Amino acid sequence: MINGGKSLHGRVNISGAKNAAVAIIPACILSDEPCRIENIPNIKDVNLIADIIRNMGAKVTKVDKSAFEIDPRGIVNPVPSYDMVRNMRASYYLLGALLGKYHRAEVAMPGGCNFGVRPVDQHLKGFEALGVECDCSGDVIKTRTDKLTGARIYFDIVSVGATINIILAAVKAEGMTVIENAAREPHVVDVANFLNSMGANIRGAGTDVIKIRGVEHLKGVTYSIIPDQIEAGTYMAAVAAAGGDVVIRNVIPKHLESITAKLREIGVEVEEYDEAVRVIRNGKIRKCNIKTMPHPGVPTDMQPQFAALLSIADGTSIITENVWNNRYQYVSELCRFGANITVDVRKAIIEGVPSLTASTVRATDLRAGAALIIAALAAHGTSEIEDIRHIERGYEDIIEKLRGIGADISRQSIGSPIVYTA
Ligand code: EPZ
Repeated sequence: MINGGKSLHGRVNISGAKNAAVAIIPACILSDEPCRIENIPNIKDVNLIADIIRNMGAKVTKVDKSAFEIDPRGIVNPVPSYDMVRNMRASYYLLGALLGKYHRAEVAMPGGCNFGVRPVDQHLKGFEALGVECDCSGDVIKTRTDKLTGARIYFDIVSVGATINIILAAVKAEGMTVIENAAREPHVVDVANFLNSMGANIRGAGTDVIKIRGVEHLKGVTYSIIPDQIEAGTYMAAVAAAGGDVVIRNVIPKHLESITAKLREIGVEVEEYDEAVRVIRNGKIRKCNIKTMPHPGVPTDMQPQFAALLSIADGTSIITENVWNNRYQYVSELCRFGANITVDVRKAIIEGVPSLTASTVRATDLRAGAALIIAALAAHGTSEIEDIRHIERGYEDIIEKLRGIGADISRQSIGSPIVYTA
């Protein structure tokens, strides 16, 4: 429940990056010794991937709210549980990690957000280039090889998942692997930095050419995950939409550059500090056109949040979604707040309205849910957002964090099921 129309004030702390954590935790499988991973967000997607690895025999202990100790030496059966894997998209990183360590992997076709088909052809293209046999009949991806041999791989499309997966499979391969047209996201760099701290030899992460020279041995390390750029961007958009003055701490401002640039175009004041940004909005919200692109462009994972913000801009804005085919399913829910948005395949035309009105809506996926929260914070009256499990699987303590900056928000558990006694 959100009673909106109030501006936001104070300070909020950003947690570790979800999309780095769901890759770095499986990457621990490649180590020959225990690893300690810190600054991990306490969210379902992360805890699920840890459970999957524990279920395979690794010793995984949560040493405090945001740190895991992972000892992969206990893995006896390198086949993750089919049922556990189907629940999340990022489980495909188990393919790269298990191939890199055991030269074989069987992972169910990944689940995850529901915006359109999410192919893995680039992942398979990369694995096959390294000498892996892939069998995708049915809904399990089966891969195996006698030996991993370095190769030159040119991705047809920029893919975060495929880039990370090939890095995982190639770090212990024989010889040099070169990935061209690689993804440059901060979490790709974080995975490479983690593996290099263990003794891997990865050069160029963060650029579109990554070179990996295989090594024999990866040692255990302690590693702290980068802050979550999308969580930070989501709070920046929330302050811009609701109005107010908030300091967002534990961020890397460089990772937020495209988001900051767009918010300044929209008329929002953003002050950058070493590990924080301050967002101030008390004037008009200006219309603005946005094209989502792979990093360093505007992240697709900020597209729904920007749409919510621009729905109360002064004029007409156009958002073009260049990464996913079908990432506007949330628009119909956003229009229930009174937003005036029409979708034309990859474009959303947003006619700004003076204000939004409270409504009852349903979250369909992580970032769509975040956009509905942003709209509810700006809307006048009390809104209800259902299925917030989609949101809480990716945003640590989002209700407590928003309440901490003055939002009138609370979690209502749906009434317990009525039990009919005979
Ligand atoms: C990661 O998904 C993120 N998920 C997504 O964030 C994010 O939207 C996406 O990267 C883009 O930044 C995680 O990191 C767990 P891609 P991923 O491979 O790796 C096509 C969130 O909200 N493609 O970069 O699956 C694909 O269809 C989630 O945290 C192929 O065609 O995305 C898409 O159009 C939602 N073949 C484009 O590339 C492939 O083999 C980019 O996908 C792989 C991808």
